[in-house]
Amino acid sequence: MSVQKEYKRITTHTLREMKARGEKIAMLTAYDFSLAKVVDDGNIDVILVGDSASNVMAGHETTLPITLDEMIYHASSVVRAAKRCLVVVDLPFGTYQGNSKMALSAAIRIMKETGAHAVKLEGGLEIKESVERILTAGIPVMGHLGLTPQSIYKFGTYTVRAKEEEEAERLKNDALLLNDLGCFAVVLEKIPAKLATEVAGSVSIPVIGIGAGGGVDGQVLVLHDMLGITHEFKPRFLRTYLNLYDEIKCAVENYVTDVKSKDFPNEKEEY
Ligand code: KIV
Repeated sequence: MSVQKEYKRITTHTLREMKARGEKIAMLTAYDFSLAKVVDDGNIDVILVGDSASNVMAGHETTLPITLDEMIYHASSVVRAAKRCLVVVDLPFGTYQGNSKMALSAAIRIMKETGAHAVKLEGGLEIKESVERILTAGIPVMGHLGLTPQSIYKFGTYTVRAKEEEEAERLKNDALLLNDLGCFAVVLEKIPAKLATEVAGSVSIPVIGIGAGGGVDGQVLVLHDMLGITHEFKPRFLRTYLNLYDEIKCAVENYVTDVKSKDFPNEKEEY
């Protein structure tokens, strides 16, 4: 039996209600107006303006270089398109680690200058003060644990996290901490499915997974990955719904052929 309900506008409360009713939450990234509009029209629950924009939009190797100004540019474009979904924006690397006042002013800039509904921060205990200060200002916070790409130089690789007991314990405690601090949801990235399921059962807030199996409350993917644009990126957790790289490349090749052969434009395509 379907547990899906019609919602005019998704809020942080809607997500909690979905978890309570057992309706899975669908989240995708978006970074620009045009694609955000399609994604919102496709009934997505949450758009994450992820700092993966650093890789996908700007071509950087990691998420570290993207700036707060760049995130604000992407987020405000997405917010102009999003009529139904909740829009969450990543606080970029360097804006919240170690200084909670700076974290709050970055979060305030995002909320004021973009019109987004919430922010996301990577980490647990080590960023407790930043999370608390942002929440105190009335800004909803989504957590992010497991493979946290802003710490890639600490991890050294993008492989599965928390396979060992010690890291798994730390992750479980961090999830409970984020829950108790008042975060409205938490993303778990690339961790064993069994651990993710256990975490989802231990917290009252929705747990959204990426490479964390089906036992959590929702799923998130990077839009360009699931559309097959970033076609060389093929992790096991990724399901691709289109092969847009090939389709766009083919369209470009056909256009080039038509221009070179003088087939385009024809008489019907001129004034
Ligand atoms: O930046 C991003 O796209 C993310 C998702 C992978 C969760 O944080």
